[in-house]
Amino acid sequence: MSQAIFELPFWRAFLANPLKVASPVPSGPVLGRAIAAAVDPRRPGAVLELGPGSGAVTAALLARGVAPADLLAIEWEPEFCGHLRRRFPGITLIQGDAFAFAELVQDRPLKAIVSGLPVLGLSKARRRRFLGQALDVLGEGGVFVQFSYSPLPPLPGGHRVAVARSVVWANLPPMHVWRYTRG
Ligand SMILES: C[S@@+](CC[C@H](N)C(=O)[O-])C[C@H]1O[C@@H](n2cnc3c(N)ncnc32)[C@H](O)[C@@H]1O
Repeated sequence: MSQAIFELPFWRAFLANPLKVASPVPSGPVLGRAIAAAVDPRRPGAVLELGPGSGAVTAALLARGVAPADLLAIEWEPEFCGHLRRRFPGITLIQGDAFAFAELVQDRPLKAIVSGLPVLGLSKARRRRFLGQALDVLGEGGVFVQFSYSPLPPLPGGHRVAVARSVVWANLPPMHVWRYTRG
């Protein structure tokens, strides 16, 4: 599995902010690859990652062929931001609230948004708004990916939203990868 069970930036951030970081363990490489597989690196547009943490999914997106110049990430936790800046100097890292992504990325055309944000504690209305905003920002053919412990859709789909799921058992804990597109 080769998942980093102990990673210092992750533990520090988790101890400082358990509710926002939501997990003491970063995603493993199998999960990273499953998430990155939803992104077509040949399509035009940038990829936006929400809540990259210590960069497990970021690394998988770059390995998939997303150019560093086409990768934007929004992370709130200062410990992670310092780590990400050192680890991925070529990407655009914004330190801020990832739920305000629409204002933060402005008019940059996006082909995919990938989120590891903890969303299960949000109200249903807030989750619906978050997904709606993401699909609106993406436009035609864009994909929104949310990974979650939840075997039920972590974001309520609704009218004209197609939802697909895969499960990555080779991750601690096993993770559900939810893929949302305009139906
Ligand atoms: C479950 S961790 C996932 C980390 C990483 N993507 C991974 O797979 O290992 C959630 C991440 O979202 C970040 N986060 C939570 N709420 C945030 C917010 N409102 N704005 C920006 N980042 C946030 C946390 O700091 C943490 O890095």
